[in-house]
Amino acid sequence: MIIESTNIDLPQNPPLLIADVSGSSIAGFQTPETVCNYMSSFLPDNAGTILEPTSGLGNLVKALKHKGTVIEPQDFFAMEKQRFDWVVMNPPFTPMAKGYKILYECMEMSDNIIALMPWLTMINGQKRTSDIIEFGLVSITHLPRSIFNGARVQTCILQMSKGYNGKTEFLNYCH
Ligand SMILES: C[S@@+](CC[C@H](N)C(=O)[O-])C[C@H]1O[C@@H](n2cnc3c(N)ncnc32)[C@H](O)[C@@H]1O
Repeated sequence: MIIESTNIDLPQNPPLLIADVSGSSIAGFQTPETVCNYMSSFLPDNAGTILEPTSGLGNLVKALKHKGTVIEPQDFFAMEKQRFDWVVMNPPFTPMAKGYKILYECMEMSDNIIALMPWLTMINGQKRTSDIIEFGLVSITHLPRSIFNGARVQTCILQMSKGYNGKTEFLNYCH
């Protein structure tokens, strides 16, 4: 993987953290609006069908609605597996295996994926790293930890396009 580095200057916004509740347990960190808008900016206008597999409070869905038809299943694992033009996601990571499973299933469901993931996704398993690069990794955006107040993991956004085998761009999200 060849990495090129670019800084992106983005509008300042206070980091937003909302813990939501799924069943009886706290389900995770919702994506702040500025990051949602950034993720949405990877999609073209008229993007077609867009899957948000684990929508939580719907922040990503809101940012994606002007790009196409957004599908948000109540339970991703219960939905009928089908093809979508895009997947845009920030899955749960408790446990980590759950987020990885959702990513792998989404890789079967679309050729275009924008995924907010822990950095561990790329550095903690050689097979997973190879699978993602073989799928096609266009860019990685590093997110500062302050994006998610109270989070202990470092996160990034993977821009994946099936069949892409060019250089992977390294982007630094500035806020
Ligand atoms: C890290 S949060 C992110 C929420 C939202 N994707 C966002 O970007 O703001 C992960 C969300 O996944 C939801 N979730 C967990 N398991 C799920 C499942 N099986 N199907 C759908 N959503 C699920 C949780 O309720 C939680 O809100």
